[in-house]
Amino acid sequence: MNILFIGDIVGKPGRVALEQHIHQLKEQHRADLTIVNGENAAHGKGLTKKFYHQFLELGADIITLGNHAWDKKEIFDFIDDAEKLVRPANYPKGTPGIGMQFVNVNQITVAVINLQGRTFMNPLDDPFQVIDYLIKNAKKKTDIIFVDFHAETTSEKQAMGWYLDGKVTAVVGTHTHIQTSDERILSNGTGYITDVGMTGAYDSILGMEKDSIIRKFKTGLPVKFEIPETERTVLSGITVSVDDKTGKTKSIKRILINPDHINFE
Ligand SMILES: [Fe+2]
Repeated sequence: MNILFIGDIVGKPGRVALEQHIHQLKEQHRADLTIVNGENAAHGKGLTKKFYHQFLELGADIITLGNHAWDKKEIFDFIDDAEKLVRPANYPKGTPGIGMQFVNVNQITVAVINLQGRTFMNPLDDPFQVIDYLIKNAKKKTDIIFVDFHAETTSEKQAMGWYLDGKVTAVVGTHTHIQTSDERILSNGTGYITDVGMTGAYDSILGMEKDSIIRKFKTGLPVKFEIPETERTVLSGITVSVDDKTGKTKSIKRILINPDHINFE
């Protein structure tokens, strides 16, 4: 099967870029399962019920989250009923939502896991311990396990990739909003990329209006970040072709669509 993953949708430019390209990408890459990271969808921080449903209507099968999962308070009203939503699994016991969802694709079960890193991020439970537990449970149902590891540092993401090599189908990094060019299949068959990159305003800093971020760096003072009004967008993604019998990755390809790259294959 083919899994299409689209990186962090940031605000309106990200939502527009998703709408513009998702159908063509699903067709082009013959996607059986489409996963979208939506933690920045609502004005750069968090996810509303409206955008959760909008992404499903556009063709996403599962939405993953990250450190901004809770920024729009209405998430607490719908996360427990949202069967297509996955929040980082390494929050303490009792946290609303779920860290692993099973989805059926052409009668094959796939486990989709969202995990959050700890380096330069808010402290959470150890993602390495939590993933061991989740894999043990997932393996009772399937060998196809897809992990969105939402983390800041390249080293923590590489460590997770190698730690899970041969145990899961793919580990894709999110959160930095900058696509890395290190996609590969690790020694034991796990597809890996340090960061998929974001989907949002192209002439921006991490999808935000660039002057406000520059001002923050120059002054050290708190600054309100805005989403730029622009039609110049970037869409970043990855597509993984999976051996349905073994759960291993057969090929992994980066997707990058912006005014400087019409597509990347
Ligand atoms: Fe994030």
